Amino acid sequence: MLSSPYRLGSHLLWLLLVCSLPALAQQKTIPVETAHNALALQVNADGYLSMTYLGAKLQNSSEYAHVARMYRRGDDYSGIINSVYTPSGSRNLVEPAITVTHADGNTSLDLKYVSHSEQKEGSNIATTSILLKDPAYPFEVTLYYKRYIAEDVVEQWTAIRHQEKGNVLLQKFASANLYIPGNDFYLKQYHGDWAQEMQPEEAKLTHGIKVLDSKLGTRAHLYQPPSFMVSIDKPASEDEGKVLVGSVAWSGNFRVDLEVDPLNNLRLIAGMNNHASEYSLKAGEIFTTPTFLYTYSDRGKGEASRRLHRWARNYRILDGKGERLTLLNNWEATFFNFNEQKLAALLKDTKKLGVDLFLLDDGWFANKYPRNADNAGLGDWQENRQKLPSGIGYLVKEAQQNDVQFGIWVEPEMVNPKSALYETHPDWVIKQPKRPEHLYRNQLVLDLSNPKVQDFVFGVLDTLFTKNPKLAYIKWDCNAVIYNAYSAHLGKQSHLYIDYVRGLYNVLKRIRAKYPTVPMMLCSGGGGRVDYAALQYFTEFWPSDNTDPLERIFIQWEYSYFFPAIATSNHVTDWGRQPLKYRTDVAMMGKLGFDIVVSELKEKDLEFAQQAVATYKQHSDVIWHGDQYRLQSPWEGDFASVLYVDDKKQNAILFSYLVSNRYRSGSTAPVRLKGLDAGKRYQLQEINLYPGVKSSLPADAVYSGDYLMTVGFNPQVDARRASVVLAVKEVL
Ligand code: DGJ
Repeated sequence: MLSSPYRLGSHLLWLLLVCSLPALAQQKTIPVETAHNALALQVNADGYLSMTYLGAKLQNSSEYAHVARMYRRGDDYSGIINSVYTPSGSRNLVEPAITVTHADGNTSLDLKYVSHSEQKEGSNIATTSILLKDPAYPFEVTLYYKRYIAEDVVEQWTAIRHQEKGNVLLQKFASANLYIPGNDFYLKQYHGDWAQEMQPEEAKLTHGIKVLDSKLGTRAHLYQPPSFMVSIDKPASEDEGKVLVGSVAWSGNFRVDLEVDPLNNLRLIAGMNNHASEYSLKAGEIFTTPTFLYTYSDRGKGEASRRLHRWARNYRILDGKGERLTLLNNWEATFFNFNEQKLAALLKDTKKLGVDLFLLDDGWFANKYPRNADNAGLGDWQENRQKLPSGIGYLVKEAQQNDVQFGIWVEPEMVNPKSALYETHPDWVIKQPKRPEHLYRNQLVLDLSNPKVQDFVFGVLDTLFTKNPKLAYIKWDCNAVIYNAYSAHLGKQSHLYIDYVRGLYNVLKRIRAKYPTVPMMLCSGGGGRVDYAALQYFTEFWPSDNTDPLERIFIQWEYSYFFPAIATSNHVTDWGRQPLKYRTDVAMMGKLGFDIVVSELKEKDLEFAQQAVATYKQHSDVIWHGDQYRLQSPWEGDFASVLYVDDKKQNAILFSYLVSNRYRSGSTAPVRLKGLDAGKRYQLQEINLYPGVKSSLPADAVYSGDYLMTVGFNPQVDARRASVVLAVKEVL
C-alpha cells in the first residue's frame, strides 16, 4: 500500500488534514436536506466547493462537517474530484460537468465558491442557490438545489452567465454533478424500441465511465429513457437497500455520465446531451439547464418510487391530484378508414360502453393530399372534406347528443413531404440542404427553433379549440426522430437540438396559458417521449403501442418505478391472446381506455366491459392517488401482483396476473400485502369478475392488516383464474 511515493504523499496529506482541525473548522458546510435525506456540500480553505455526503439525514446537521475526514481513500491529486460542478481545462482530469471556450479562445475554467442563499416557497419547498465564479474570467455558474421536503425529491439545475468581451462557447453544460461515496454501485438502466419499451438491465458499474444518452432529437427516449436507478453497495430490492432514482427532465437529447472514479466513488453527471450542441453564449445572457431530479431511499426501490410518485402528483404532472377521463379511441378499430357515419356509430358505442370520452385518432385531416395513410397529409390540419364534410364541430355536437365528450389526435411537430405545408414552407422543415431526405415513418420534423413554426404549431391547437370550445382532450403524438439535423432558420446549427426543445416548451407554455386544464396525452408511437419536463403540460402519457397485456405487465411494471399510475394511459385492444377480462384487468392498473370495436363484442364481453368501466370508476381514486406497491415481480415467478393503497389505509386494490403458461403455474403461496395498517381489519372481495363466473375466494373473508402484511393472502391465480382483482376495504 505504501510503496508508491504518491500514496505516501497522500497519506501524509491526510495526516496533515486531520491535524489541522482549526482549518477544518473554517470550512463552510452547506447541508441540503429533505425530510429523510441530505446532501452535504463543503467549501474548503481554498474556496472550492465539493460534495461530501449523500444519504440519510443526520439528526445533528453540524456533523456533516466531519464526514469527509472519515474517508481514507487517498487523493486524486487535483483536490476537486468531488467538485459540485467539475470544470475542465484547469486541473481536473476526470469527466467534467462543464466545458467552455472563453471569448479569448482560452479553454480553462476554474470555479470557486462565492456565496449561497436559500429561498422558501411555503413550508415544503426550499431552494438553495450557490454562486460559483472563475477567479480569472468574468464567468459564473449558479447551482440550484430545489427540495420538496416531504417527498424527499431534489431538482437540480444550473444557470450559466458571463461578462466576457465576446461570446463564450459552452461545450458541456450539465444540470447536476453528484459525488456519491460507496463501496459498489449497481446501475438499473433501460433500453428499447417501438413496442419494446423499458427493457431493464441491472449491472455493477466498473471503474471508468458509463454513459446513458440519446441523440435522437425528438422522441428522444425511443432507444433509451432518461430515467434510471443506482443502488449503493448492493443491488437494492423493493424494500431494502440504498438507491437513488433519477431522471433528466428534458424532452430532447440527454446524457448521464456515471463514472466510478479512482477513489472508488461514483461521479454522476446529468443533463442535456452536449453532442453536436456547442452553445454560443452572449455576454449577459443566461443559459439555464433543465433539471435533473432524484430521490434517495435507504429502504429500497419501492419507497424511492413512491416518493417520486407523490412528488409527481403533488407538484409536476398537470392535474396530478385530479381525475382522468376514461375513453374509447378509434385508432385500432378503424385506422385511417372512417367517415361521419362510422364515427357517429362509434360515438354511440362510447356511450354504450360507459366511458367518458371518444377520441378521434389519426386520419381526420388534409385535402390536397388526404390523410388516408401515414405517407401523406401530415401538416395540413383542416378537416378532410370527404371523410368529415360537416367538420369536427358536427362530431363534437354529436358527442354531446350522446352524452359523451370528444377528443382529438394531433401530431403538430411533424410533416409528410407529401403535404401542402411542406410545399409552402420547405424552409420550416429540418433537413440538410445538400443531402437526400431520410424519413422516419414517412415524415420529417418541423423546425421548432423557428418562432414562425412555433406560431404555426400553437395555431394548430388554438384553431381547434377556438372553433370547438367543447373539445375535451388532445392526444399529442410525435413519431419522427431528427435525421439530417439542419435548420434554415438558425445561424448556429449546433443550437438546433437545444432550441428545438425550447421551442416546443414555448408552444406548450402558450397552450397552457390559454387552455390550462384540458387533458392532453403525451404520445410518441409508444414510449419514445416521457419525461418530467413535458409532464408539466400533460396529464398522461402513452407508454407503448404494445398493448399485448402480457408484454404490458412488464412494460408498466418498469415505468411504474418512475411515473405514477394516474399518468399512465393503458388501452384495452385486440393485441395478445388473452381474454378480454385479462386485457382489461391489466389496463386498469393505470388510466383506463379502450381501442376495440365495441359493436363486434360478444354479448357477454360487452356486459363485462360495461361492468368493468363502472368498477374502474368506483376504484379509480385509489389507483390514481394511492401509493403503489409492487408485491410480486413478473420477472421472478409465475405471476405478478401490484397493490395500490389510499392515504388513510382504508381502501386498497390488488391486481394479480399469471405470466407463465407452464403446467400448474400460479400463486402457490400467499402474497404479502404492504402499506396497510396492521391494527385495522380488512375485507377482501374479488371484483371485476366475468359475467356468470363465481369467485373461488370466500366472499366475506376478513383479516387484520397485521395478518395480511405478515402472512399474506393467496389470490389463487392459475390458468383458470389468470387475472384476479381484489378490493381490500377496512371493516369497522
Ligand atoms: C402512433 C400512436 O402510438 C398510435 O396510438 C396512433 O395514434 C398512431 N400513431 C396514429 O398514427
